[in-house]
Amino acid sequence: ATSSITADRVPDMGKRQLLNLILLGAISLPTVGMLIPYTYFFVPPGSGGTGGGTIAKDALGNDVIAAQWLKTHGPGDRTLTQGLKGDPTYLVVENDKTLATYGINAVCTHLGCVVPWNAAENKFICPCHGSQYNNQGKVVRGPAPLSLALAHVDVDDDNKVVFVPWVENDFRTGEDPWWS
Ligand code: FES
Repeated sequence: ATSSITADRVPDMGKRQLLNLILLGAISLPTVGMLIPYTYFFVPPGSGGTGGGTIAKDALGNDVIAAQWLKTHGPGDRTLTQGLKGDPTYLVVENDKTLATYGINAVCTHLGCVVPWNAAENKFICPCHGSQYNNQGKVVRGPAPLSLALAHVDVDDDNKVVFVPWVENDFRTGEDPWWS
């Protein structure tokens, strides 16, 4: 007798849970579906918030604060941070001690090595096969076929550095960005 009760209850419970799930889904799916457009409406990408952008992280994984960064990184500095999609991306300090409005994606366009900055040569030089890029990441020597990708650099209301996808012309070549 005991086993028949158990056997009866288990599928019953299962059905009820399934029904609950379906009900929950019927209620919550349209709600979520309605909320998403609202969220996007009120937080337009690239408005200074983080919508459409990614806060730059330093080597320790902390958010990069622009004012602090500029205290410890002088003119001409190019230091790696974590950028869009987690790609290693150089923050550039201009000669007037401001942050450049572009960041340089460090992933070599040849076979993907991370390209170090060589301050003495004023170039990015890839250790893997010797490709070279100028101080803005424009390719000046192969085998790399393309310049390093760009990202916009913004500073948000909390003084955090934010990378935003670069979809406009590549200012170094005047061409469409190959990366977007
Ligand atoms: Fe950079 Fe080949 S991966 S030159």
